[in-house]
Amino acid sequence: MTYAVRYYTKTGNTKRLAEAVAKELGVEAYPLSTPIEEKVDILFLGNSYYAFNIDPEVKDFIASLDKDKVGKIANFGSAAMLNSTYKKVKAEADKVGIPMIEKEFHCKGEFKGLHKGRPNEDDLKEAAAFARSLSAFFASASVNPSLGFIK
Ligand SMILES: Cc1cc2nc3c(=O)[nH]c(=O)nc-3n(C[C@H](O)[C@H](O)[C@H](O)COP(=O)(O)O)c2cc1C
Repeated sequence: MTYAVRYYTKTGNTKRLAEAVAKELGVEAYPLSTPIEEKVDILFLGNSYYAFNIDPEVKDFIASLDKDKVGKIANFGSAAMLNSTYKKVKAEADKVGIPMIEKEFHCKGEFKGLHKGRPNEDDLKEAAAFARSLSAFFASASVNPSLGFIK
């Protein structure tokens, strides 16, 4: 299985999550300005809410993806009030025909004095565990195709 980690961040929270995910997978986390050159089975895409939406840069990045190079997208991120950006990201991924993994990672993110210190050490551990469990699942699905129907 091959992985890539890309993130969008305004205040550093998603970068920290991305680095925890990437370390677990044995790859580097890069900002969206680094294109996906090699074929990857799973692209872990870190993004968060800003004014009730994902940033236009995240939408542009997804629009630039080649479905022949990216097998699936795994969503992760944080927000201060809202829950996951999953639906917003999926709407963009659908346009380019790249499937989303239904499991995702989301936690609280510090914003203007709310949720101080989040993502914290526990959040980073959980983000790493999320990456570990997806990579273990898809590695076993690739040797046991009968599991392949599970997203
Ligand atoms: C300009 C701005 C707008 C935000 N708008 C929202 C919002 O509408 N809803 C929400 O739940 N969180 C909102 N947040 C909080 C971020 O989603 C949260 O702080 C997140 O952890 C930021 O990740 P980052 O540090 O990687 O940019 C906003 C943060 C910023 C900086």
